[in-house]
Amino acid sequence: MGEQSIIHMHDISKNYELGKITVKALHSIDLSIEAGDFLVIAGSSGSGKTTLLNLIGLIDTPTSGSIYFDSKELDGNERRLTEYRRDRLGYIFQTFNLIPVMNVYENVEFPLILQGVSQGQRKQLVMDVLEQVGLTGHHRHKPRELSGGQRQRVAIARAIVKKPDIVLADEPTANLDSVTGEEIIELMEKLNAHNGTTFVFSSHDPMIITRGRRIIRLHDGQIIREKEAA
Ligand SMILES: Nc1ncnc2c1ncn2[C@@H]1O[C@H](COP(=O)(O)OP(=O)(O)OP(=O)(O)O)[C@@H](O)[C@H]1O
Ligand SMILES: [Mg+2]
Repeated sequence: MGEQSIIHMHDISKNYELGKITVKALHSIDLSIEAGDFLVIAGSSGSGKTTLLNLIGLIDTPTSGSIYFDSKELDGNERRLTEYRRDRLGYIFQTFNLIPVMNVYENVEFPLILQGVSQGQRKQLVMDVLEQVGLTGHHRHKPRELSGGQRQRVAIARAIVKKPDIVLADEPTANLDSVTGEEIIELMEKLNAHNGTTFVFSSHDPMIITRGRRIIRLHDGQIIREKEAA
């Protein structure tokens, strides 16, 4: 386990029980997420990418094995998990998951309200982050009044506004055309370089996968290869 590891997983397995059938979605996973990583989880459909992201994101729990956050083993303490999810992790989804009745500003502000940040501070943080993702001037738009790429920028702004340690993204470019998908990866690279935000995201698009500085390849629920970019 590296000094800088935010999350360390040891010998993780995840089974899903489907009636009498047990689906072994992940097994023997050892993985450390280091501060500043730009890590891609690659693999074909059904290889376990979403399952692994949900475990890293503390949205789901493993069937066996240990997960350490800040070198402390997670023990199922729900209060601690809720704190980590609210304060330390940011999520970007394939389908953006914006709240349709809220405008851009309100969507991005929402996680700060959950954290109890004051109104004045919220305004500053939201306007700063909208500038970073190139959406200054769009803050009063509703999600339906934006393009797919703009919606994903809002989702990125919402994920990073609370300055989380790790941003997790499950196929963040899958619903975008390839040019817009490239732009979204470029934005994530910029935020990784400028703010030091750690990104962990999945993809099965070879063009997107090659953009990872660390690439983890899953096959049938196992890590078959890890590659570090030169
Ligand atoms: N809730 C669930 N109940 C039962 N089986 C599941 C569940 N979620 C996933 N699985 C199974 O676990 C395995 C891994 O699924 P997962 O969704 O992690 O794959 P993936 O790599 O994200 O695939 P995709 O590229 O299609 O999104 C698959 O065999 C899938 O059918
Ligand atoms: Mg998936």
